[in-house]
Amino acid sequence: MSAAAPQPRENQGQPVPRIDARLKVTGEARYAADIPLNDLAHGVLVTSDIARGRVRSIALDAARAVPGVLDVVSYGDLDGVKPPRFDNSSYTSLAPLHDRAIRHDGQIIALVVAETLEAAQEAADKVTAEYDIEPPSAGLDSPGTETLPAKGNTAMVQENPSSGDFQAAFQSAPAKLEAEYRTPTQTHNPIELFSTTAAWTGDQLTIYEPTQSLYGLRGELANQLQIDPANIRVVAPYVGGGFGSKGPMTPRTAIVAVAARRLNRPVRCVVGRSQAFTTEPYRAPTWHRIRLGATPDGKITSFSHDARELTSRIDNYAVGGTSTTTRLYGYGAVASNVDIVKADRQTPAYMRSPPELPYMFPLESALDELAFQLGIDPVELRRRNDIDREPIKGKAFTSRHLMACYDAAAQAFDWSARDPRPGSMRDGDWLIGVGCATAVYPTHVAAATARVRLRVDGEALVQSASQEIGTGIRTVAGQMAAERLGIGFDAVRVEMGDTNLPPAPVSGGSNSTASVCSAVLKACDRIRSRLFQAAVASNSGPLAGRRPEDLDLRDGAVVARDGASQKLPDVFKALGAGAIEEYAEFIPDGAPATAVQDLYGGKSTLTGGPSGAKAKYAFGAEFVEVRINARTREIRVPRLVGAFAAGRIMNTRTARSQLMGGIIWGMSAGLLEATEIDERAARTVNRDLQDYLVPVNADVQAVEIIMLPEVDHEVNPAGVKGIGELANVGTNAAVANAVFHATGKRLRELPIRLEKLLTA
Ligand code: MOS
Repeated sequence: MSAAAPQPRENQGQPVPRIDARLKVTGEARYAADIPLNDLAHGVLVTSDIARGRVRSIALDAARAVPGVLDVVSYGDLDGVKPPRFDNSSYTSLAPLHDRAIRHDGQIIALVVAETLEAAQEAADKVTAEYDIEPPSAGLDSPGTETLPAKGNTAMVQENPSSGDFQAAFQSAPAKLEAEYRTPTQTHNPIELFSTTAAWTGDQLTIYEPTQSLYGLRGELANQLQIDPANIRVVAPYVGGGFGSKGPMTPRTAIVAVAARRLNRPVRCVVGRSQAFTTEPYRAPTWHRIRLGATPDGKITSFSHDARELTSRIDNYAVGGTSTTTRLYGYGAVASNVDIVKADRQTPAYMRSPPELPYMFPLESALDELAFQLGIDPVELRRRNDIDREPIKGKAFTSRHLMACYDAAAQAFDWSARDPRPGSMRDGDWLIGVGCATAVYPTHVAAATARVRLRVDGEALVQSASQEIGTGIRTVAGQMAAERLGIGFDAVRVEMGDTNLPPAPVSGGSNSTASVCSAVLKACDRIRSRLFQAAVASNSGPLAGRRPEDLDLRDGAVVARDGASQKLPDVFKALGAGAIEEYAEFIPDGAPATAVQDLYGGKSTLTGGPSGAKAKYAFGAEFVEVRINARTREIRVPRLVGAFAAGRIMNTRTARSQLMGGIIWGMSAGLLEATEIDERAARTVNRDLQDYLVPVNADVQAVEIIMLPEVDHEVNPAGVKGIGELANVGTNAAVANAVFHATGKRLRELPIRLEKLLTA
């Protein structure tokens, strides 16, 4: 990988190392399942061997007889627990132990609890069940599924964006393209396994669980257990990757809490990799039909995007990405539709960059096809259809530097050296292909709260119950406080990951840096204001009589424009305090009036993207080089180049890591990842990291990330657009486009593996 040191530029923060870097690399950082507890018992899940039917009987005696086994929780043991609600806090309404219906492969049928993990594992293996089996429907094309319009059947798809008369415009278009595309089921597989640890002290419950939404989990669990949320504390100091899978809670949490209450001792259940494939959510497979009409010189006159997504029988889930694809370029007339297909699978959920990752693949592939058909450079085609107002509602973008991203990335990639003829570039046995695509992600923001304490000695403490899912939120929140309080980054401590702290929104939709930093900024500004008031009010002080708005905090002192200053300890003396603590609530424009109250209750409402007076999106352009062995069709990716414009970058080092991770995952979505479902049984075939392909170091060579300076004061107070999900959008299409360039073969179904290149 290329390793140029990140340099701060205009509107780009210092590349300080992560605040928790040392703890992480030394293994001292405590993840939820690492936290030691006395008298801890261990739980292991038992899951179904069928995808659809009923548990006729379950035999638990052999498990109970294993030495060390303490309890088995199964049917009949969850009386008094309410079924989950299908919303943003629970991924499913499925209540696995409430009735004997089996609705998906690997559904929880029991939890075995023992003195040791080994005893629990042995006993879990001894649980047997007999089933009444019904024939399941496995996927989008299986018989027995039910198809519904997403709009009207799921709150997640509010619109099928359209504009003008698509049919007429498409009919009369001089050039036309119509093609179908598919993306597969994918499973999140964060390196930190899923786990729940439940510990009761009287009626007080503490849950240690990696989650992207501490308050969301607390609120939903309180609802299920029918207890006051104030009696639940959720703790997750670090989360080892979430990518959406740890956003909503799963049925496991309540089951483990019940087990701990029955035994009156703490119970920890770490879900093994294989069981995670079926007890956690996943990214649904999708089908798309794209139609594009254009003039011979590449001006698009009509665009339609029809899609189908898989969901479960019991929950109508959809991600609905036409909200973004229909707004991306100047299309003329636009039509779109999303349907959901109900099958015998668990309910899907968000997975990094929903919905753009699966929905941009067909659009960015189709644009490449259109460019080839018209003999126009694919970058030029996008330039000819670039816009400053989105075509559905005619809203201006707060900022949009898509073509600047293309220009920067194209230059770094040396795109001009490309020979556009497919199969024309070759290095010995290797066919060389290059391709590009657009990255886009809506800028989201949500209500957030924070508490900041500044002490007389210039040390600060920042507290907010955000979740450190690996993005570096602790670090950037600390940077924001250091900047606003005029102290060194080393003087800031940041506490997160605990519902004892003031609430922050779900770490999802790339909102956290914008939302949490805006709350921290607000709390710091209150501290500044109190310090400035004290400095000007003190008659004997050097700043007496100055106007507070002319003051600043720098290097541990309140300073005036004329250079007069007062050291913090003296200002604190004037205040008569040893510390100042301020709590602030950030409520973004367009958020509901109840946003903060909702946040305390566990509900985060993300706003942004196409909603509001202006459209808010981050953009990028990605270029990929593939090399395909002419004899074996082995596919290699020597180069990935991405340029991104995403507002203020709080920390160029952590941001670069995010963008690299994103583009690498995007490449993986193009070439490697798919969860294989057996059509006959609707069961998951590849259930570990040996069979579920993810990239290893050898799959990733040069990765170049360019961050364009972009100032956007309209998106939110922090000026941050968010970068957690941006970079893996479009990479899959850039890969497919590069494969076409190398081979002349257009593959419209992901992942692109060598076997697909062997056949004609
Ligand atoms: Mo992300 S899929 O919004 O956690």
